[in-house]
Amino acid sequence: MYPLIRNRRLRASASIRRLVRETIITPDDFLVPLFVVEGKGVKEEIPSMPNYYRMSLDHIEKEVKTLWDMGLCAVLLFVKVPDGLKDNKGSEAINPDGLMQRAIKTVKNACPEMLVMTDVALDPFSSYGHDGIVADGQILNDETNEVLAEMSVSHATAGADFVAPSDMMDGRILTIREALEDEGFTNTGIMSYSAKYASAFYGPFRDALDSAPVAIKNVPKDKKTYQMDSANRFEAIRETQMDIDEGADIVMVKPGLAYLDIVREIRNEVDVPVAVYQVSGEYAMLKAAAEKGWLDHDAVMLEQLLAIKRAGANIIASYFAKDMVKLIS
Ligand code: PBG
Repeated sequence: MYPLIRNRRLRASASIRRLVRETIITPDDFLVPLFVVEGKGVKEEIPSMPNYYRMSLDHIEKEVKTLWDMGLCAVLLFVKVPDGLKDNKGSEAINPDGLMQRAIKTVKNACPEMLVMTDVALDPFSSYGHDGIVADGQILNDETNEVLAEMSVSHATAGADFVAPSDMMDGRILTIREALEDEGFTNTGIMSYSAKYASAFYGPFRDALDSAPVAIKNVPKDKKTYQMDSANRFEAIRETQMDIDEGADIVMVKPGLAYLDIVREIRNEVDVPVAVYQVSGEYAMLKAAAEKGWLDHDAVMLEQLLAIKRAGANIIASYFAKDMVKLIS
């Protein structure tokens, strides 16, 4: 006799599959990254990120309204800084009238309920493309933290709901939390890029912001002295636990697909929301393969996002957010 249990009964029709499906993607899952540039009427496609754009503030205003109408409720802001404004200390990052500060206000004016998160790191503002201040062949840790704290207060002052430090300096969450408290921003949250790996998948993002690191006085052209080694797992848990102890409200694993073991492990280990960043290189890979007709874009996009959520992500930062919401609505 055949076994009494036949697992295929639960797969026999689309309806039963819907009924027993364990993981569902909704617009509420997404954090939408936006790239902001100076100017008016600017909407330029990023060559290594097909159908993704750098936008000036007038376009950003329209875009956030569109996102809100689609059911998306959170954005993550990045700015492309003109070369002339870059220096080693990222001074432009704390300009109260800088592009990031104006972008925050633009989004909040256009769409007050849209949750605004801001990238906090020196690289787009740094003449060397590094996330910290460069001196004596090193990336300075504690001095960088002071700038990150000022930057966070500046973003909070402009109206950011959450700051998202993506730099991987030691102790920056505590420094930022204390600075926010001192300035009265007790309700401004911190989403920490806690387990951020030194990944080759960030290439297209660095094209988008013209922020690739350069080699300078014994400092190599990579971020391996501050971002994590891809080979490590226990270190991800330690980094994440420390960020929570220092005051992070949300923690993040980055990149996504190649690190889903880490996502599951962190999800099992901690009790705060876990975000995952499906990064630019992951987006570029699928767009390129789909352009060649080698992969079915929508099916692979859905499969990858399901995998990220199934692994334990509560929040997904993804360049596919709009494509995905269109697909499911
Ligand atoms: C800045 C930052 C990076 C990304 C997010 N914030 C680049 C980097 O660390 O070099 C990458 C995002 C992506 O690739 O989509 N520190």
